[in-house]
Amino acid sequence: MEEKGFLAKITQLNIEDGATKWSSPSNIALVKYWGKREQQIPENASISFTLNNCKTITNLTYTKKENKTDFNFDVFLDGEKKDDFKPKIETFFNRVSKYLSFLKDFHFKIETENTFPHSSGIASSASGMSAIAACLMSIDKQLNPEMSEDFILKKTSFLARLGSGSACRSLEGDLVVWGKHEIIKGSSNLYGVNFPFETHKNFKNYQDTILLVDKGEKQVSSTIGHNLMHNHPFAQQRFIQANENLEKITTILQNGNLDQFIALVESEALTLHAMMMTSMPYFILMKPNTLEIINKIWAFRKATNSKVCFTLDAGANVHVLYPESEKVSVLQFIKNELVAYCQNGHYICDSIGKGLEQL
Ligand code: DP6
Repeated sequence: MEEKGFLAKITQLNIEDGATKWSSPSNIALVKYWGKREQQIPENASISFTLNNCKTITNLTYTKKENKTDFNFDVFLDGEKKDDFKPKIETFFNRVSKYLSFLKDFHFKIETENTFPHSSGIASSASGMSAIAACLMSIDKQLNPEMSEDFILKKTSFLARLGSGSACRSLEGDLVVWGKHEIIKGSSNLYGVNFPFETHKNFKNYQDTILLVDKGEKQVSSTIGHNLMHNHPFAQQRFIQANENLEKITTILQNGNLDQFIALVESEALTLHAMMMTSMPYFILMKPNTLEIINKIWAFRKATNSKVCFTLDAGANVHVLYPESEKVSVLQFIKNELVAYCQNGHYICDSIGKGLEQL
């Protein structure tokens, strides 16, 4: 599907005031998206596990308004008005207004809450932007009842991408690929698609325990980090490597080889941070405790032959990934040896989830 397929059709505004509510999860990338072009086009393909417990729940109330020249909306987080969220949503509305005909016809009240603790340092842009995209598509669906379910899902992902790149991978489970790649049939730079192959049973209900090493605001936002990939000395090589890794992990996810999975996923995490450290200006998002945890995971693996591994997003927190069959032993290891490195001893137990849900 091309971009123009998503453009808004001229339709009569024949819908009344109303409200719609969706929940959408976060996701954790195995092969990372880091580097993008204009209009949120990724420089390489990426793949992620959809999560189950880390979710944003958004209730969108829409009321017709007289003045149709501007966007008009208010944002609330946990019942509290959040004017500092408005610029990001204004940018999002500007980007998606070509694709949704009704944005200037309504006043929107966006009420949002997260299932994970506020300011846990967990990126909420993926869950937050995908939840808003789903709410807006509920309205679009009323205006364009002929749209197929498949098209609606694609357009929701397309809109979510324009809010935050990784958000386009949050709508479905278990594994979603975003970015054009020759071995993933139907893949696109414009939206995420379900991993199109049968996944080995080793990866069913895979576990992700998120160790909250640093709950503070990130020093460098993802958007700035992505931009630093322009003129980055290793950028082109990195984009080639990521696409190669996507091909490799496609095989691994089917054959269930956990040692190969560990090597690829940990290398991706460290390469992401290596890109940050070799940007100009350079920056480091890992904290001393991030490294302590990584070393403990390596020691535990060596001592026990466990298949536990780690990945990182653009921050200091560590995602500990492991098969469901090791749930008891790895959780015990986390409690015994890793919790000490978490801020206030906090961590979140999550696992693979199914994506969007209408409430
Ligand atoms: C490191 O999707 O947050 O988590 O498109 O600028 O909103 P924007 O960036 P964002 O970047 C996520 C980067 C990452 C890797 C990944 O999720 O693939």
